[in-house]
Amino acid sequence: MITGGAGYVGTMLAHKLAKKSKKVIIFDTFWYGDPKILFKDCFADLIIEKADIRDLERFKKVIIDNKVDAIIHLACVSNDPSFELDPKLGKSINFDCFESLVKISKDNGVKRFIYASSSSVYGVKEEEQVTENLSLEPLTDYSKYKALCEDILLKYNDKNFVGMIVRPATICGYSNRLRLDLSVNILTAHAYFKNKITIFGGEQFRPNLNILDMVNFYFKSLEYDSYLINGEVFNVGYENLKIKDIALLVKKVVKKNFQIETTSSNDNRSYRITSKKVEKILNFRPKFTVEDAIQSLYQSFKNGIIIDPFNSKFFFNVEVMKNFHDKK
Ligand SMILES: NC(=O)c1ccc[n+]([C@@H]2O[C@H](COP(=O)([O-])OP(=O)(O)OC[C@H]3O[C@@H](n4cnc5c(N)ncnc54)[C@H](O)[C@@H]3O)[C@@H](O)[C@H]2O)c1
Repeated sequence: MITGGAGYVGTMLAHKLAKKSKKVIIFDTFWYGDPKILFKDCFADLIIEKADIRDLERFKKVIIDNKVDAIIHLACVSNDPSFELDPKLGKSINFDCFESLVKISKDNGVKRFIYASSSSVYGVKEEEQVTENLSLEPLTDYSKYKALCEDILLKYNDKNFVGMIVRPATICGYSNRLRLDLSVNILTAHAYFKNKITIFGGEQFRPNLNILDMVNFYFKSLEYDSYLINGEVFNVGYENLKIKDIALLVKKVVKKNFQIETTSSNDNRSYRITSKKVEKILNFRPKFTVEDAIQSLYQSFKNGIIIDPFNSKFFFNVEVMKNFHDKK
């Protein structure tokens, strides 16, 4: 079962699992799209539960009825601006219900629980090699609750209930449920549709991971030997790049003569992560680059799969969330 399985990452993961004939349940509120559209090529192969993870009775029933053996927990209010829009809502989804979800899973036969944390839990580090054992200094509530949930999961794992924590870099590349509020994706969209990229400073590093590698990793996480992952935390990232270098990669791929404007910035926060542990212990090496991700986005724009994204809320989580507020 994938909670948040209708999100940016979850949609692509569900496609991959369905293709490999796994029985997949999507447990999601479907804030960002209609399941029949998101999963048009594999809808018949999925079990769709349009539900809120805070509905614990429903969560339990779905696990029991379907004899769920593994959960990949992606559902959350998934960036700082959306979280800050309504911190109470964000906390209720990202933190308050988390311990109950873990307990219910463990008590009802789930054998493996994979938790999507974030590499933002480290905050800004002086060290160039940001490894899993460095202290966590989250700078925002979104990151703080990610870190607190990690501690909760680690209290419950044992030989019958495997808990693994994943700290992904920022994801990039095309998805059926595309997010354009992520650094590589937004720069590519600006270049293509607005003929201009503005970068603030540009010297700051960002850790990146192609969505195809993220999906491969979650897929494999269902199959790794328990003893290798139980109670473990893994950074999963690939290229740490300066924002200005991402802009140059965009320029290389998007064959347009657009402008890159650099303005000064007081925000010189740099983030990078090291993913040597996942390579050493799980032999996991990303295969797809940031340039591949830009290429996938560029093709989707050029081929008219994505049209006029700046006039649609769909691509920007905070805009969709604002819409909920306006309707309240
Ligand atoms: N995308 C990234 O760059 C990135 C980086 C690091 C970590 N992560 C983490 O990975 C996970 C997936 O990220 P994403 O980019 O796919 O996010 P996303 O926002 O696209 O997807 C989140 C999904 O969760 C669902 N959801 C939200 N609240 C829910 C609730 N109460 N009940 C049921 N469903 C609910 C939404 O409808 C959405 O489909 C998140 O936990 C995110 O924090 C993402």
